[in-house]
Amino acid sequence: MNDSKGMKKIYVFDTTLRDGEQSPGCTMSLRDKLLVAEMLESLRVDIIEAGFAMASSGDFEAVKAIAGVVKNSTVASLCRALEKDIDRAWEAVQGAAHPCLHTFIATSPIHMSAKLKMTPDQVYEQAVAMVKYARNLCPEVEFSLEDCSRSERPFVFKMVEGVIAAGATIVNIPDTVGYAVPDEFGGLIRDIFSNVPNIDKARISVHCHDDLGLGVANTLAAVQNGATQVECTINGIGERAGNAALEEIVMALKVRHEHYNAYTDIDTTRIYATSRCVSTVTGSPVQPNKAIVGENAFAHEAGIHQHGVMANPLTYEIMTPESIGLPRNKMVLGKHSGKHAFQQRLSDLGVSIDKSKVEELFSRFKALADRKKTVSDADIVALAQNLATDFKGTAALDRFSVIASNAITPVSTIRLNVGGEMIEKVAAGDGPVNASFSAICDILDVKCKLEDFQLSAVTEGMDAQCKASVLVRFGEFAFRGNGISTDIVEASILAYLQAINAALEAGKAK
Ligand code: KIV
Ligand code: ZN
Repeated sequence: MNDSKGMKKIYVFDTTLRDGEQSPGCTMSLRDKLLVAEMLESLRVDIIEAGFAMASSGDFEAVKAIAGVVKNSTVASLCRALEKDIDRAWEAVQGAAHPCLHTFIATSPIHMSAKLKMTPDQVYEQAVAMVKYARNLCPEVEFSLEDCSRSERPFVFKMVEGVIAAGATIVNIPDTVGYAVPDEFGGLIRDIFSNVPNIDKARISVHCHDDLGLGVANTLAAVQNGATQVECTINGIGERAGNAALEEIVMALKVRHEHYNAYTDIDTTRIYATSRCVSTVTGSPVQPNKAIVGENAFAHEAGIHQHGVMANPLTYEIMTPESIGLPRNKMVLGKHSGKHAFQQRLSDLGVSIDKSKVEELFSRFKALADRKKTVSDADIVALAQNLATDFKGTAALDRFSVIASNAITPVSTIRLNVGGEMIEKVAAGDGPVNASFSAICDILDVKCKLEDFQLSAVTEGMDAQCKASVLVRFGEFAFRGNGISTDIVEASILAYLQAINAALEAGKAK
């Protein structure tokens, strides 16, 4: 598809909820997945890969729920090239406005012999049969040649031709293990275009992992050689070193559109808010020097740079912070700011919040403004995200008090409102946070393992808000919780309670 200037459209296939969720510790709850899907839809991604329906009942429910609410983006489920997987994926996505089945099989010699224990002919027959099977169910079928970059070219050409003839509407060429380098990967795509006779009957997609830090470079090399779909994740999260980062590919295509003669439909002003949302729900912080979305991506430290930017931002900035939804003129809000200015700020920041929650967010903002002199953009994004991931669980914090000291054992007294009943307990610990977590477990009579605990300041300054993120494990199930407060113990308690409430709600807390 070309626009009026003859530029080709590049389809964006986001796999944050599938490949992204496969990264260690990035498990998301159903509520969080729905929130991310909503953000991806407003970012205007073309396809949302919502999960791998066959992987677990949790994955199945999440794909189904996302398929039920997303209206504009296509919703895909991954499935192996097996009838039972395809049936399960179809059960999950068939309710979507635009469903897609994404089926795959490995094509490299090592995967076929060591993992699948199949000959190339058997792999070919299976792929063709399963694409036909999937196309009988769903009008959009993507087929991936897993480990394609390490596969033999003649076999790749045969596979691509065969699955297109069988009805695949999209054929995906993954660099599954992040082994490829850009000129070679671009060459693979070029060769596929020159050696597959029916190549014009399908869209060619690429899916690059970042093991050598080349995921985005390989993706762009593929675009230069004819690929018209890119698979990526927000903040580049994914298996091992991650996947190619959506924000980097999209901004490269935007800033250098003349070079690539291509465009995407992404609303780039929503990139920053989406990045922060994914970081919050996965508990996976964005490194400060990360391209596009890192805290330092638009910060100029050297005097000579600051002087240049003041004279003309183009001296050192190739794109504006506004283009990713990070406004340059930080309008400071305080306790006298009205609802109108607050709502305007939310919309400038690309933060979409359910209408029913605006009042609650505004009152949390006012409460914060009472504690802090000025409330920054980062504070507002953090408050909005915290509210979006918040939910009314069985237990709510009523009050707490801690005695922390390096001379006597720290003690915490916590009072929770548990379904209307006030219960108070006192516990000791190595520190005030540890003591508080023990008191909460005593009150709720649960035992869990704290797997991850992160504290970070939302802004600089002594009165900064603190964000706490915890991952707690009950047997095979892990739950993340987030909390925010100007007090680090309170933020930690809120995060811990949120995670335990999620476990109680799912019936997994013992
Ligand atoms: O990396 C990969 O090969 C994948 C496929 C399933 C597309 O994630
Ligand atoms: Zn992958």
